[in-house]
Amino acid sequence: MISLAPFHFLCSLTVLLLLPLHVSSSDPDPLQDFCVADLKAPISVNGFPCKPAAAVTSDDFFFDGFTKEGNTTNIFGWSVTPANVLAFPGLNTLGISMNRVDFAPGGLNPPHSHPRATETGVVIKGKLLVGFVTTSNVFYSKVMTAGQMFVVPRGLVHFQLNVGEGKALLFTAFNSHLPGSAVVPTTLFASSPSIPVEVLTKAFQVDKATIDIIKSKFGS
Ligand SMILES: *[C@@H]1O[C@H](CO)[C@@H](O)[C@H](O)[C@H]1NC(C)=O
Repeated sequence: MISLAPFHFLCSLTVLLLLPLHVSSSDPDPLQDFCVADLKAPISVNGFPCKPAAAVTSDDFFFDGFTKEGNTTNIFGWSVTPANVLAFPGLNTLGISMNRVDFAPGGLNPPHSHPRATETGVVIKGKLLVGFVTTSNVFYSKVMTAGQMFVVPRGLVHFQLNVGEGKALLFTAFNSHLPGSAVVPTTLFASSPSIPVEVLTKAFQVDKATIDIIKSKFGS
């Protein structure tokens, strides 16, 4: 009798080899060359419907929003210019997007996470402290200068702080056409409507007056 053991072994191996691909995939693969987003379409799908191909032009595949420095006059001293599907509809379904991030001296891209993407970044100008914290609560960080690259694994809370003398400039890239951003301070202290204050006093082990001070910084 022929043993089926080698066959079973091969099947198991195939499943094992394929499994991580599914687990680690981000946005789904596109089903056509392109699907330039029709952001005003009356129907909603997971993503955006495509503009008719006949209405697509060269301009749909080029984005000049990164040519200008962002306005960093705000409490954090930073500015994010996103080139996600909402700003650059040609990215729709392609599973990729970028940000331009400008920093005033001392500027901070506050702790935040991207629920749908891993982030890579390249420092173009200045000196940035880049760091993230894992779900095991381990903090990884490094001071980075022009030409250096980092990665922040999907979903982890991370930040960049300008620790140089002058301005800093960073470009980041994501494996999602709309990575999303949950900014920790505004998520907790400036949501609409507000999170009940008992949740915040208990979570941070402080009194209501302290929570009110923090909230007032975000105009809420
Ligand atoms: C930058 O933003 C600040 C605050 O919103 C605003 O007062 C200022 O006019 C802006 N500067 C420019 C050059 O747009």
